[in-house]
Amino acid sequence: MTKNTQTILRVDASVRTGDSVTRDLTTRFIDSLTLGTETALLRHDLASGLPLIDEAWTSANFTPEEDRTDTQKQILEQSDALIADLQAADIIAIGVPVYNFSIPAGLKAWVDLIARARVTFRYTENGPEGLLTGKKAYLFVASGGTPVGSEIDFATSYMKHMLAFVGITDVTVIAADQMAMDADASLARAKSQISEALAA
Ligand SMILES: Cc1cc2nc3c(=O)[nH]c(=O)nc-3n(C[C@H](O)[C@H](O)[C@H](O)COP(=O)(O)O)c2cc1C
Repeated sequence: MTKNTQTILRVDASVRTGDSVTRDLTTRFIDSLTLGTETALLRHDLASGLPLIDEAWTSANFTPEEDRTDTQKQILEQSDALIADLQAADIIAIGVPVYNFSIPAGLKAWVDLIARARVTFRYTENGPEGLLTGKKAYLFVASGGTPVGSEIDFATSYMKHMLAFVGITDVTVIAADQMAMDADASLARAKSQISEALAA
């Protein structure tokens, strides 16, 4: 791998694996972005969900690394792997369908697994500090009726907040929102936002 190789982490959260607006937009963006470039593409498809954190996971996470049992280390393995891909990525592209005014459960499970004190964020005397710095993220958001960026769109605001919390503050939102009203116009807006993002 040369120094100029960019690493892209793609995260898909739609439970629709075929006819999915967020998947289509994410593919369109990544295909254009990587055309003629040397790219390492990492991918997490959350269509089938992820394990939910539980008491054993939380306890393992709160146990200092050097004191963890083998079982606790094993419990954290999936989280470690998801975080390793985030750490490796220069660019993170996340498909975010709006489900019940928020994010799909699989994406929330991903957030729970990657938000780790002392690994992806830490508390300082000035408050929390994100540790995943120097990255750029793109959110590909789709909704049926909820206007993206409105006060009832908890999906976009939550994802932006969580990414910033772990240090990813450079976030561009591509929105195909209110698809149920005028799908063609909504998709056209999203595609033009992709062109703008690629030109930036
Ligand atoms: C379980 C579920 C809940 C949804 N909730 C909302 C919602 O709260 N607001 C909204 O505007 N659209 C809602 N939708 C519509 C989706 O946001 C829309 O179909 C979007 O295109 C889904 O992304 P995808 O095409 O990538 O699967 C919901 C869809 C599903 C399947």
